[in-house]
Amino acid sequence: MSNLIVLGAQWGDEGKGKIVDLFSERFDIIARYQGGHNAGHTVYVGEQKYVLKLIPSGILRSGRVAVIGNGLVIDPVALMAEIEMLEELGVDVRGQLKISNRAHVIFPFHRMVERISEDSPEKAIGTTSRGIGPAYEDKIGRRGIRVADLLDRDNFKAHYTGNQQDKRKIAAAFGIPATDDDVLAKYAEIAEKMRPMVCDTAALFAAAIRAGKRIMLEGAQGTMLDVDHGTYPYVTSSSAASGGACTGTGIPPTKIHGVLGVSKAYITRVGGGPFPSEDLGERGEFIRKAGNEYGSVTGRPRRCGWFDVPLLRYTADVNGFDSLIITKLDVLDGLDQVPVCTGYKIDGKLVEEMPASQSALARIEPVFESLPGWSKPTAGITDFNKLPAEARGYLRFLEERTGVEIGCVSTGPERNQTMVVKGSRMEKLLGA
Ligand code: IMP
Repeated sequence: MSNLIVLGAQWGDEGKGKIVDLFSERFDIIARYQGGHNAGHTVYVGEQKYVLKLIPSGILRSGRVAVIGNGLVIDPVALMAEIEMLEELGVDVRGQLKISNRAHVIFPFHRMVERISEDSPEKAIGTTSRGIGPAYEDKIGRRGIRVADLLDRDNFKAHYTGNQQDKRKIAAAFGIPATDDDVLAKYAEIAEKMRPMVCDTAALFAAAIRAGKRIMLEGAQGTMLDVDHGTYPYVTSSSAASGGACTGTGIPPTKIHGVLGVSKAYITRVGGGPFPSEDLGERGEFIRKAGNEYGSVTGRPRRCGWFDVPLLRYTADVNGFDSLIITKLDVLDGLDQVPVCTGYKIDGKLVEEMPASQSALARIEPVFESLPGWSKPTAGITDFNKLPAEARGYLRFLEERTGVEIGCVSTGPERNQTMVVKGSRMEKLLGA
C-alpha cells in the first residue's frame, strides 16, 4: 500500500490540482499539509472548471475523504465560501471533508498587519494578501489561535480579544487603519458550521494507515516557495517541500512510500523574487498567452521562463523525487526551438549548488541550451510513443539532465489528456 506525496517542483502553479484530482481515484484519503487559501488548484471535469484554494482537490471524487491537515492556516470565511461554491456544484463537501483541530486560524487582523510590509515598496514580496504570513508568524510565535480554540465557546473570546488588541497596537504604530470589526459573532457562527467536520486528523490518519487505506498528500505552492528551501525571503511562510507533509499531517516518515514532483514543461512564478530563466521578451509573452498564465487566486499575470535544470536538480534533492510529472507540454507546441536553462553562473563562474544568499540568487546568470521544437501538436496525446520525436527528445533530455524519471506527461487541462509512462516507477507507485 503506497502513501504518496504529490508536490510542486518549481514556484507553484505546476498543475498539481489536475494531477491530484486524476490520481485521487486510487486513494482513500487526499490531504493538504500546508498553506492556506493562497493556493489555486484548477481542475476541469468535462465542461466544469473548479478552482480550489483551501480544500484538497480530492474532494471532487465522491467517496474520498479530503483532509485539511494541522499544517494549514484556515480563513473560516474563505473556507465557508469554498464549501458553499462546491456544494452548489453538487459536491458532498460536508460528507467528505475533515478539518484538523490543530490547524491555525486566519483572522482579519492578519491581513491588516500584512499591509505593514506589503504596502512598502522596499519590503513587499508580492504576497497574495490573504494574511497567510502573519498567521504563520503567530503560530511560530506561540500566540496563534487554533481551530480547537475557535470551537471552544467558553474561551475563544478572551483568546481573540487579547490577540486583536496587540495587532491593533502594531497597526496603529505603523499608521495602518484598523479593519477588523465584527469578528467575534461572525466567527462564532462559522465555528458551529465547521464543528461537525473538525477532528484530530493525525488520529484519523493513524487509524486509516492501520486499516491499510491509501493516502495522498497534496502540496500547495512549490518547493522554491518553501520557507526553508525556497528563494528566501521571496517565499511563502510554510513548508511546501516533502518534509512538510509529515509535520503538517502527523503522518510519520516511515509511512510515506514515495514522492512525486510536478513540473511544467517550462516554468512560471507569481510575485517578486529571483527567476534565473525568466524570458521577458516575446517568447515569454508567447508562453503566457498559450499557457493562460494568469494567477488563479489573484489574476496576476505570471512571469514566464524556460525549464530550469539546476533548479529541478535542487528540488529533486530536497524532496527525494521518485518520479516527475511534466505538465503543459502542449503549450510549447509550434516553437522552432525550445531553450532550456542547463547551468548557473555567478560572477562568470559556473556554480553547482543553489545559492542561499539574496544577493547571490539575484546575480545568477542562466546558461541556455536550445533543443529543436516540434510542429505537430501534442495536445491531447495520451501515448508517449505517439508524441512527435522532438517532443520525446525534449522530455528525454530533461530526464537525463535532471536525473529524475519522467513518469507522467500532461498534454491538456482535462483528466483524460494525461499519460502515465508504461513501465515507469510512477506506474508502480500508483499501482496502475
Ligand atoms: P503568500 O503565500 O500570500 O504569503 O505569498 C508569498 C509568495 O508566494 C508570493 O510571491 C506569492 O505570489 C506566492 N504564492 C503563494 N501561493 C501561491 C500559489 O499557489 N502559486 C504560486 N505562487 C504562490
